[in-house]
Amino acid sequence: MVKQRFVLPVDPDPCPDLMIERGPKGTGVGRWVPDDKHTLLAKWLGGTRQARVKWPQRIFIDPFCGPGRLQVEGETFTRDGGALVAWRQSQAHAVPFTHIEPERTAACATRLRALNAPVQEFTGPAAETAPKMAAAVPSGALVLAYIDPYNLSYLGFDILKALAKLPKVDLLVHFSTMDLQRNVDIALDDARARFDDAAPGWRDHIDHAQLAKVGLREGFFNYWLSAVKGLDFTSARHMPLIRGDRNAPLYRLVEFSRHPLANKIWDDIAKPANLELFPETDG
Ligand SMILES: C[S@@+](CC[C@H](N)C(=O)[O-])C[C@H]1O[C@@H](n2cnc3c(N)ncnc32)[C@H](O)[C@@H]1O
Repeated sequence: MVKQRFVLPVDPDPCPDLMIERGPKGTGVGRWVPDDKHTLLAKWLGGTRQARVKWPQRIFIDPFCGPGRLQVEGETFTRDGGALVAWRQSQAHAVPFTHIEPERTAACATRLRALNAPVQEFTGPAAETAPKMAAAVPSGALVLAYIDPYNLSYLGFDILKALAKLPKVDLLVHFSTMDLQRNVDIALDDARARFDDAAPGWRDHIDHAQLAKVGLREGFFNYWLSAVKGLDFTSARHMPLIRGDRNAPLYRLVEFSRHPLANKIWDDIAKPANLELFPETDG
């Protein structure tokens, strides 16, 4: 049987008058947001749906959800943001989330409520909301946390630590390789200090005075990876590198779980279609 290619649906905006995410420059987000990031998110939810069936409490945590609707640069229409993709996919799979915990913008919560999602909203920066989100999770819930900041300075390790206190949690993390590439090798300690929150202690463990740029980036990423694994997770093998204009590497999507099956499902979804043609290197 030929496997049908998954295509992310474009659904109408339940609240077209509310704000829209158009990226850090305001010109629209990149094509890779729906084509790669949200497609992988939707496939991950599809792949893990069986695991959720038996759980009475199924929770989606999104501390960087934005307004819940976005416009891709060059497109005339808008699309769902990640939290709405997650909600609609969970409904389509007939295992709807029993709670959705978005952050910050009332727009996302309003859009989710308009689609009858059971929303519990948290206002404030992710560093403050993530521990509150984790504390609000009922015991015995299965949690999927989607951690999607624009750059590493917002990916505070404490956010992951707070979520790691939940016994049944899987994480999907946006790790900005572009931020790392642009900033980690600047020969100034304060530029390097900008990464201290994401991976506390990294400068004591990596010889940043000696290593060349590539070694420094790899060293930082590996240090971060082992720090997250140290919170009692294993990571999936495939960490797809999402590329932007002119093939520039932007970020990796890294999945962490405490259940080997979840890692395996992510690996099946995220494996490169052709390993020879698309090596997963940061260029
Ligand atoms: C990459 S976008 C995420 C989009 C969304 N997760 C999605 O998949 O459609 C990052 C979002 O985080 C928001 N943001 C920026 N700083 C934040 C912070 N400190 N805490 C929480 N959200 C923040 C930005 O406004 C932006 O909407």
